[in-house]
Amino acid sequence: MLNADEYREDALRRWESAAAGWEKRRPVFQRAAQPVSMAMIDLLGPQPGQTVVELAAGPADTGLLIAELVQPGGRVIITDAAEAMVEAAERRAEELGITNVEARPMDAEWIDLDAASVDGVVARWGYMLLADPESALRDTRRVLKQGGKVVLAAWHDPDANPWLSAIAKEMLERGHADHSPPGEPGPFAFSEPGTIERLLESAGFDEIVVDTVDFSFSFESTDAHWDHQLDLSTRLRDQVKGLSPAEHTALRDGIDARLADHRQADGSVELPARTWVAAGTA
Ligand SMILES: C[S@@+](CC[C@H](N)C(=O)[O-])C[C@H]1O[C@@H](n2cnc3c(N)ncnc32)[C@H](O)[C@@H]1O
Repeated sequence: MLNADEYREDALRRWESAAAGWEKRRPVFQRAAQPVSMAMIDLLGPQPGQTVVELAAGPADTGLLIAELVQPGGRVIITDAAEAMVEAAERRAEELGITNVEARPMDAEWIDLDAASVDGVVARWGYMLLADPESALRDTRRVLKQGGKVVLAAWHDPDANPWLSAIAKEMLERGHADHSPPGEPGPFAFSEPGTIERLLESAGFDEIVVDTVDFSFSFESTDAHWDHQLDLSTRLRDQVKGLSPAEHTALRDGIDARLADHRQADGSVELPARTWVAAGTA
């Protein structure tokens, strides 16, 4: 069974050290993930003057898009449990010259905001990583004004996301990683159809909408994909550290074989991705 406190502590440590990689890879990640931000914004329908919170924001690509749409008079509170992620988001806001944002460290499981104080809450690929997502969604509902919306994204099936799952599958098959028990937090914790509906309903949300968005990540080679994933995941970095050169080569060959169907004539790879995007009204 999950030891929630140990999980939270370990996850926070990992995200703090992953922040530099996320900041470095942000342009590539967002170039691919922009359609997801756009689908989330469509569901949210931000209006001038509103206050919107982004939870588990990372470099805050979605929140910073929303910041422009709540002008004039509105603002976005950008939050993440990892201070280094919040600093990355602040740097990005500064770079874009966006001033109607306030960035601060905040755990999505303990939302430090008054009841009924915000119009919208967004979290792209955040809730499924939490030890207790249902209680986080209940807390989300608490901070939303009546009629306010939560909009979230969470990864669909691993088979529809080779950009993320090919490495994990190969690591498992070769015994370099352990299976995570069903029900534990992780990128695919909400992948089963019906999971998000159930969670939003139990948290008390109405007018629940769950859609899928298909998009893709392009890399100039499978090597570039590997380097990208290493930058994003401290867990992967730790797992491969102990491998012998022969194990490393065999692992990379196995991953390449899994991605072979997506290789283009010039050696680049176009890797499919599929996510749920969902909304609920408080
Ligand atoms: C997969 S990344 C997604 C980042 C960003 N939302 C995006 O779509 O690019 C997950 C983010 O969740 C943050 N996170 C993990 N656990 C959290 C928690 N308990 N509370 C708040 N943020 C958390 C991590 O620091 C990381 O920035």
